[in-house]
Amino acid sequence: PGDRAGFLADVAARSAHGLRGDYSRMGEDYTVEQDYRLYSSSHQDLWRRLHARQLELLPGRACAAFRSALARLDFGSAIPRFDAVNERLHAATRWRLVPVPGLLPDDVFFGHLAKRQFPVTVWIREPEEFDYIVEPDLFHDFFGHVPMLFDPQIADYLQAYGLGGLKARRLGGLKYLARLYWYTIEFGLIAEDGGVRAYGAGILSSPGEIRHAVDAEGVHRERFDLIRVMQTKYLIDDFQKVYFVVDSFGQLFEETAPDFSLLYRALERLPELDP
Ligand code: PHE
Ligand code: FE
Repeated sequence: PGDRAGFLADVAARSAHGLRGDYSRMGEDYTVEQDYRLYSSSHQDLWRRLHARQLELLPGRACAAFRSALARLDFGSAIPRFDAVNERLHAATRWRLVPVPGLLPDDVFFGHLAKRQFPVTVWIREPEEFDYIVEPDLFHDFFGHVPMLFDPQIADYLQAYGLGGLKARRLGGLKYLARLYWYTIEFGLIAEDGGVRAYGAGILSSPGEIRHAVDAEGVHRERFDLIRVMQTKYLIDDFQKVYFVVDSFGQLFEETAPDFSLLYRALERLPELDP
């Protein structure tokens, strides 16, 4: 809370669009209300078009857990109301969505995850960003992340990640832990039906990347290896060159359960790998 102004200046400087969210009315924990009146009919129309286009690309590309949760949620006809989704999400995995103006400082983000609260951006992209957006908006956060929060193992993994983030800050391990988030929660693949399927939100919410990640030739698809993942740099504004494939979400949870303290120290002495 103390360095809020510094954080906001930093976000604004890094985005080509400046500071996009309204950070003026948030609480200590950076949450806001989802003011549903702010969604115009063109926002609703953009949501429907994004949803419909993405839905078409899911068969054979999205993992089973994502597809079944999405089908039950059925939020293709209008921008979802966080409150309504929360009743169902809490009943399923004890997670809750919290509306936020946009990107959050690391400690705030980890703190929410540790409490099984998932921050979801309230604003939606501009029509010109239909195919690709660099920073997370409502469509990425909702369509990409929320269905996976209904999976009990991903739900537990993400909470463990939040707790691990608070610890990594103290140990100087944030760079490595960020790579783990990137290559699992955002760009993870899982082996399913004799092929690979996406469970990472950055893939699932992107029309170009879902085809690239699952179908394209010349893309590296490596078996998930914790140390390897933590050594590997990533691209924030282009399709990934490497993806890591888990056998199951149980494997992901188990391989990341041990204490990372020594691992962070060991990683300092290992080379960083290009994607
Ligand atoms: N095991 C990790 C640690 O000791 C915590 C963690 C779990 C981090 C799951 C990420 C994902 O820091
Ligand atoms: Fe995301």
